[in-house]
Amino acid sequence: MRAVAIQAFGGPEGLAVIDLPDPEPGEGQVLVNVEAIGVGGVDAVIRSGLLGDWGFREGHVLGSEVAGTVAAVGGGVDASWTGRRVWAFTGTGGGYAERVVVDAAALVALPADLPGADAVTLGSSGMVARFGLRHARFAPGESVLVRGAAGGIGAMAVQLAARGGAGAVAVTTSSDERGRRLRELGATHVLDRAGEAAGDAPAGYDVIIDVVAGADLPSFFSRLEPNGRMVAVGAVAGFPPPDFAAAMIPAFQKSLSFATFSADTVPESERRAATADLFTEAADGGLRAVVHEVLPLREAALAHRKMEAGEVFGRIVLSPTGD
Ligand SMILES: NC(=O)c1ccc[n+]([C@@H]2O[C@H](COP(=O)([O-])OP(=O)(O)OC[C@H]3O[C@@H](n4cnc5c(N)ncnc54)[C@H](OP(=O)(O)O)[C@@H]3O)[C@@H](O)[C@H]2O)c1
Repeated sequence: MRAVAIQAFGGPEGLAVIDLPDPEPGEGQVLVNVEAIGVGGVDAVIRSGLLGDWGFREGHVLGSEVAGTVAAVGGGVDASWTGRRVWAFTGTGGGYAERVVVDAAALVALPADLPGADAVTLGSSGMVARFGLRHARFAPGESVLVRGAAGGIGAMAVQLAARGGAGAVAVTTSSDERGRRLRELGATHVLDRAGEAAGDAPAGYDVIIDVVAGADLPSFFSRLEPNGRMVAVGAVAGFPPPDFAAAMIPAFQKSLSFATFSADTVPESERRAATADLFTEAADGGLRAVVHEVLPLREAALAHRKMEAGEVFGRIVLSPTGD
């Protein structure tokens, strides 16, 4: 089978198509014929070599989520999975391939009419957005700011906050065009990356879902209402300054909270159930998968270049079929 592996850590040019033997499902596993692969920021970080100490080696096949059809089952797996379309989380690798072996326990069945590209756009990103909002104890009627809303997680957080009855859903983004598209997803106010708005955006928010972090994160504490909660779900602009929490102290009387959220802390059964709910909501037309573009698997390096150039609105997807 064809797969895309890291031949040299560094830029996207280090990705190459290679031939690998077809994998075989072991005990408790299934073989999936892949139709769509979600491309995520973490793939670019692994490719860059910054996580070298985490045990990634040259030859590593990237890809943390796929959609496809179960082609074979291993021992102890219900044979009725065979032929079913599924979404699967593949962890830190293996997804950039024509076929992948995953644990049957990690499978989520897809509604018949949900395209694979939609599933890998909604799956992990939507789950992070949903649990991120829960971690922030978001309640209907509250105002929400999504910082870094134009990415996979942000586009889902905007929709979930709006559908959850938010009183206002503000977003930070870098262009008017993106702001217009985010309004179509449910944003009520559009701010620039610094949090400034041309119009009548709320002065404060009950909840901030932050995908960005970086040097500007502390300046957003002043945008929280009394008892406001900021939850960091990503760090696309890097880590905040080491003393960032000091910026909360002048607002001591506002009882502010800052938390990080990682999906790793959510039990797999809950993640699967939440992902299945997202797919049902999308199939019913309630949620939109924001697929930026579907590229052939062999164009993985191009997908990474587009992602790193900041061109991607929503999620970029690879497909090994018809390639
Ligand atoms: N918590 C978890 O369990 C979990 C799981 C998976 C991934 N993650 C993390 O989530 C992040 C990726 O999320 P994503 O795919 O939704 O993000 P993304 O698409 O990479 O970026 C989101 C948006 O942030 C804005 N942005 C980029 N660089 C910026 C900067 N320097 N300053 C301000 N805004 C900037 C861009 O929009 P504009 O150009 O419109 O501003 C971009 O579209 C990564 O940090 C990843 O590690 C977390």
